[in-house]
Amino acid sequence: MKKYYLYINLSLLFFSTNVTAEENGKHLMKKLCSSCHVTEGKPTLAPPIFAMKSHVKRAYTNRNDFVQRIIDWVEEPDAAIALMPGAVNRFGLMPKLSYKEEEVRKIAEYIYDTKIKLPEWYQKHYKQKHGDEPNQ
Ligand code: HEC
Repeated sequence: MKKYYLYINLSLLFFSTNVTAEENGKHLMKKLCSSCHVTEGKPTLAPPIFAMKSHVKRAYTNRNDFVQRIIDWVEEPDAAIALMPGAVNRFGLMPKLSYKEEEVRKIAEYIYDTKIKLPEWYQKHYKQKHGDEPNQ
């Protein structure tokens, strides 16, 4: 039995040192966020990831502030401080999800660090609404 656990622990260690932070964040984002926040195409349940990023980055330009804001939001979504009130009206407030802070941090860092290609419809939509280019 002991041997068995040791084997599992070693293989976990091996696995985690072999995936980069970026792959980790991307994988976690797909698993925990993309069922609602699509990475491509038109939104159905929530704003796409790139739209959410653009709004959060507009208000929180600095990487640490951006990451902290996403962690705080996921822990306690609150319509009173929503940066996307239009999305709250359209989709309803994001439900409270009990995700691990460390996982949300990796996701937020991945989103901040990755330049996401914006579809043309979104660039037009953003410019019309906000008068400038979206933050990538
Ligand atoms: C069950 C569906 C669902 C899941 C899963 C989900 N979200 Fe959301 N999220 C929403 C909806 C709906 C909105 C738009 C309404 C709002 O802002 O509450 C939203 C909005 C947001 C916003 C904008 C907040 C603001 O200031 O307006 C952020 C940031 C966000 N989500 C981050 C995440 C992250 C990170 C994950 C994964 C860890 C995630 N969401 C998973 C449904 C979801």
